[in-house]
Amino acid sequence: MAKLVIQGGNRLQGEVRISGAKNSALPIIVAAALAVEGECVLDNIPKNNDVGTICLILRSLGVDVWFDEDDKLHVVGATLREHQAPYDLVRKMRASFYTAGLLLARLGRAEVPLPGGCAIGSRPVDFHIRGFSQMGADIAIEHGFMKAKCRKLTGTNYYINRSSVGTTMNMMMAASLAEGTTILENCAKEPEVVDLAIFLNGMGAQIRGAGTDVIRVDGVEKLHGIEYSIIPDRIEAGTFMFAAAITGGDVLIKDIVIEHLRSPISKIEEAGVTVEKGATEIRVIAPEKLQSIDVETAPYPGFPTDLQQPLVACMSVADGTSVIRENIFDRFRYVDELRRMGADIKVERETAIIRGVPQLTGAPVEVTDLRAGAALVIAALKAAGTTEVYGVDDIDRGYERFEDKLRGLGASVQRVETHEGIDAFAQIRS
Ligand code: UD1
Repeated sequence: MAKLVIQGGNRLQGEVRISGAKNSALPIIVAAALAVEGECVLDNIPKNNDVGTICLILRSLGVDVWFDEDDKLHVVGATLREHQAPYDLVRKMRASFYTAGLLLARLGRAEVPLPGGCAIGSRPVDFHIRGFSQMGADIAIEHGFMKAKCRKLTGTNYYINRSSVGTTMNMMMAASLAEGTTILENCAKEPEVVDLAIFLNGMGAQIRGAGTDVIRVDGVEKLHGIEYSIIPDRIEAGTFMFAAAITGGDVLIKDIVIEHLRSPISKIEEAGVTVEKGATEIRVIAPEKLQSIDVETAPYPGFPTDLQQPLVACMSVADGTSVIRENIFDRFRYVDELRRMGADIKVERETAIIRGVPQLTGAPVEVTDLRAGAALVIAALKAAGTTEVYGVDDIDRGYERFEDKLRGLGASVQRVETHEGIDAFAQIRS
């Protein structure tokens, strides 16, 4: 176990390169195993723990997965043979449920543990299950697992209740090898959905309309391996935008797709930050004091829920009062930790009212989930004195070399091993 020890007060300056998108990498690594011919070679895969977990899950299903010396990930789907995903790995990450689409499409059989609740509230997979069932799978929920069987999935018309990212992706994977045509309505339009569709089409799938409300998938007999490079991580880019902003910094954020960041860029500009736009990079130049802004999270192209916490951290020291409404998840638990650093935040149901304070003060704080971890680090960069951020493994799930990249911009961040997890009872008896 480790903590990050951060001395606040340094202005971030310099340039940072953004890694591949975690939320593209996870479904694309799973989708790569849909191929029965050849291998997929994936480039720009971020080196974080969620990627590690999905690779271990695929290996446990019989798929050959390895990184070569150039950090490209190879996936050979032909050896897929197990239909039961292991609970001890799946429980770590909700995105593991993508294996359900893979297994049903390839083996006609899937036993995948249902993801439980998590730190950002109840996150059911009922839309995924209803979709598989409508494609002809026979589904039972037993002993905490979704157990599904089918001879072959068949095309269907499926209206997704909310524009769920995970459901849209899982259905696209399953429908690619189904018999006949699937029409998905009210689809998520996130860039990661489009990335997966382009990848699957490269493998031989017939998907049209990704990035719009309606996606049409004409099932094909089989898919083959390809080489593919995934899109940059817009959430990592946004995280560095807010980190630069809170410190009054001047940071060049490189290797991004600017169009994917339209809403966060326009909001940060409203807060008084100058954003100079190049072809694949932005320079973020922040004033000494940010202006408060009002924001509500929404499905893409709206303001992403994954950047709500970093934004709240920034607004906690802005001039004036901000109203932030969270429309996607129950994602305000971490504000208790920000309050311990001196933030003035009132939460009423899905709305946070933040009165900017002149200064935060460093404190020991606990990470409750991945993006909350990013927010606490961002707050710590501005706080007076030392902040110790505990529970760093949640941050490691989704950011590649987070503290190295921050240090490269001039932040004072150290990773220190802690005694968390030590058996206190055994210690006292020895
Ligand atoms: C993905 C992202 C996550 C991001 C979220 C919203 C990955 C690995 N994770 O999560 O970082 O915050 O999109 O942009 O890509 N819902 C149901 N039943 C379902 C599925 C979803 O009720 O079967 C609800 C959820 O509780 C939530 C909403 O629909 O309120 C949207 O969730 P969804 O878009 O599916 O999020 P994820 O795919 O889990």
